[in-house]
Amino acid sequence: MSKENPSSISFETAFAPTKLGNSGLSLKSRFFKAATYEGMADHGIPNQKLIDHHVSMAKGGVGMTTVAYGAVSSDGRTFKDQMYINEASLKVLKELAVRVHDEGGRVSMQLTHCGYFTKNKTSKKVLAPSKIFNAYGFLSGLIYSEAMTLNDLDRVANDFETSARELQKIGFDAVEIHLGHGYLLSQFLSPLTNKRKDQYGGSIKNRSRYPLYVVDKVIKSVGPDFPVLVKLNLDDGIKGGFSLKDCIFVSKKLEEIGCAAIELSGGFTSKSPFYLLRGSVPLKGMIKNASSVAEKLTMALFGPLLVKKYRFKENFFLEKAIKVREEVNLDLIYLGGIDSKKGIEEVVSNGFNFIALARPLIHDPEFLHKLKQGEIDKSGCNRCNACIVEMDREGIKCVLN
Ligand SMILES: Cc1cc2nc3c(=O)[nH]c(=O)nc-3n(C[C@H](O)[C@H](O)[C@H](O)COP(=O)(O)O)c2cc1C
Repeated sequence: MSKENPSSISFETAFAPTKLGNSGLSLKSRFFKAATYEGMADHGIPNQKLIDHHVSMAKGGVGMTTVAYGAVSSDGRTFKDQMYINEASLKVLKELAVRVHDEGGRVSMQLTHCGYFTKNKTSKKVLAPSKIFNAYGFLSGLIYSEAMTLNDLDRVANDFETSARELQKIGFDAVEIHLGHGYLLSQFLSPLTNKRKDQYGGSIKNRSRYPLYVVDKVIKSVGPDFPVLVKLNLDDGIKGGFSLKDCIFVSKKLEEIGCAAIELSGGFTSKSPFYLLRGSVPLKGMIKNASSVAEKLTMALFGPLLVKKYRFKENFFLEKAIKVREEVNLDLIYLGGIDSKKGIEEVVSNGFNFIALARPLIHDPEFLHKLKQGEIDKSGCNRCNACIVEMDREGIKCVLN
């Protein structure tokens, strides 16, 4: 099905109030702060810095800010200092939601389970669709994942549902379920990591069965007024991985089950991490942050070989994202390399309903205001990507500031 270009949206009207999907949720603008793991939790409990960070995003003019990421269970964490949805974190998140609302903003939680991408030694079992060598966690002793049993599938789906419901109860406005970047649900979607022989492996219909079941379960549980968003890869950026054709298939299914909007991205964190970022690879900082001598050595020796660099280009995912735009009617959120007024104009003129930004807002939460006022015409972010090193140190920040 071909979608007629829905866009009467211009650079100016992108700053005007609107509604999200069919949910009726009002937003003060069409801009989203994309999920960027903030590293602002102490022993897994979000701290004041996290609240201030998202308040600054709402003040800066985004309609929706996305907290990242909320593991749906203790074993859904990549490492043990990450937040997961439990009583202690919900207490802080409740205050965060109130403070964002005070600024006229909306707040969503990116819900995820890391699957085998973990070095969290508190997990009894490393979960994944299939048995996979864990290149990320093997130095922590988590060498292989176990193929999830049907009981595991049920338990994790329930964790997604319960987490979404808890967030709805404390005043969050939406959830974004992470189906991308190589986390558990993306591991199901990718033929590189899903080697199952049952109804959850093989064709894209089968590989998407479990991720779609999870999204559907959450949608049915929270009801039509609470938007359930999905972050989905355009492709994994690696040969033999999830493809653009797969993405179009899954997008159509998401539309059928009532997903409010899809945010399109790409890449597989443990295999092609810079595919979704582009720009410089801050290898020195990454080595410094490595948690053990063995990890530092491995990174120093193999880092340049393992971590491929991709050249930055404004709106680097646009060409592929347009292919999805042509096939579905639901709201689409463009993400990836927005840097200027011209870049925003290009995105909205191609029929995207919302515009998400990450690094330009880490660099300057006031970027959108300044752009709107004509004070600047480009973001000051130079894609040095040192912010990804900072997130694992004392919390995300831009080193240029
Ligand atoms: C420091 C940092 C942390 C990130 N953490 C996450 C995350 O937790 N979840 C996620 O889906 N994407 C994450 N991303 C990816 C961004 O959401 C986005 O896809 C990427 O930065 C490209 O958008 P941009 O060009 O506007 O920065 C992260 C990006 C950065 C720079």
